[in-house]
Amino acid sequence: GRPVILDVDTGVDDALALLLAVGSPELDVLGVTCVAGNTGLEPVVANTLRVLDVAGAPADLPVAAGASRPLIDPPHLTESDATQTAEHVHGSDGLADIGLPPSSRRLDERHAVELIRDLLRQAETPVTLIPLAPMTNIALLLRSYPELRPKIERIVLMGGAVNGGNVTAAAEFNVFADPEAAAIVFGAGVPVTMYGLDVFYSVRVGEADAAAMAESDVPSARLAGKLLLFRMNGELDSAEIGDAGAVASVIAPDGLSTEELEVRVELEGRYTRGRTVVDRRSASDKDWDPHRHHPAPVVDVALDVDAKRYASLFVSVVSGERRL
Ligand code: BDR
Ligand code: CA
Repeated sequence: GRPVILDVDTGVDDALALLLAVGSPELDVLGVTCVAGNTGLEPVVANTLRVLDVAGAPADLPVAAGASRPLIDPPHLTESDATQTAEHVHGSDGLADIGLPPSSRRLDERHAVELIRDLLRQAETPVTLIPLAPMTNIALLLRSYPELRPKIERIVLMGGAVNGGNVTAAAEFNVFADPEAAAIVFGAGVPVTMYGLDVFYSVRVGEADAAAMAESDVPSARLAGKLLLFRMNGELDSAEIGDAGAVASVIAPDGLSTEELEVRVELEGRYTRGRTVVDRRSASDKDWDPHRHHPAPVVDVALDVDAKRYASLFVSVVSGERRL
């Protein structure tokens, strides 16, 4: 399969992404790294290890802890005891409070950045990085070991949006949580696919499918079903697979419509900090732009997704049917 490394802040939809990635015969998960985000670093690590148990990941799959706070901002979104964590979205333990047993998996002793460095150095073919969380670890990697950029096939990240935000009116959570890190990742000269909010909510599993999964004998399906039902909260008739959609786009890239567009991260605005400013103007309009002497990174921005295909890919892989 295609070699990948996931960087996560598990997190309900990060858990779905891990279940999909580990279950997919199309992917070869080389390692998983953790970063503070939906919840603090410690619960993120604990959740990630528990989910990998359920996914049946190999016991020697390396998992490492990374940054516990953003590069520059105080950890206002990521402290586990802060009132502004994503508890309302992910439960008080970051994983829907469904009480998964603790894992006996050992955490790798290396820092996340060192683990990714070592995996890239050892890799025979370039690796796809899949950041599904604030991009602190990936930014530190790219700044610390720029010589490893050719070993990265592409960065397929969940973050940003062409239109609007979720944590603020202007900004998406993962970019807002560490805007400087996102700016470094976009501008690093590595091919980037931005799987943002414009497609993030579109890939959804219906209540009947989720309920059937929750009753399944297959542990991955059971966990995914429970997490999706938690998200529906008895009120909705479907739930998004979120971060797992970015993984689906690595498995089946032709299900994602992207356009190469210039993307800048707003680092200064009081109400717009963390916004991804995506430029959809024609070249002639850009001629007038006073910012034109500061070239922006060009990113493959996801504009549309084959939502049905990714949802059924998710359900079949996680249910152990392993067909595409
Ligand atoms: C992102 O924020 C987190 O809550 C999700 O896991 C996803 O990575 C969406 O904005
Ligand atoms: Ca996430």
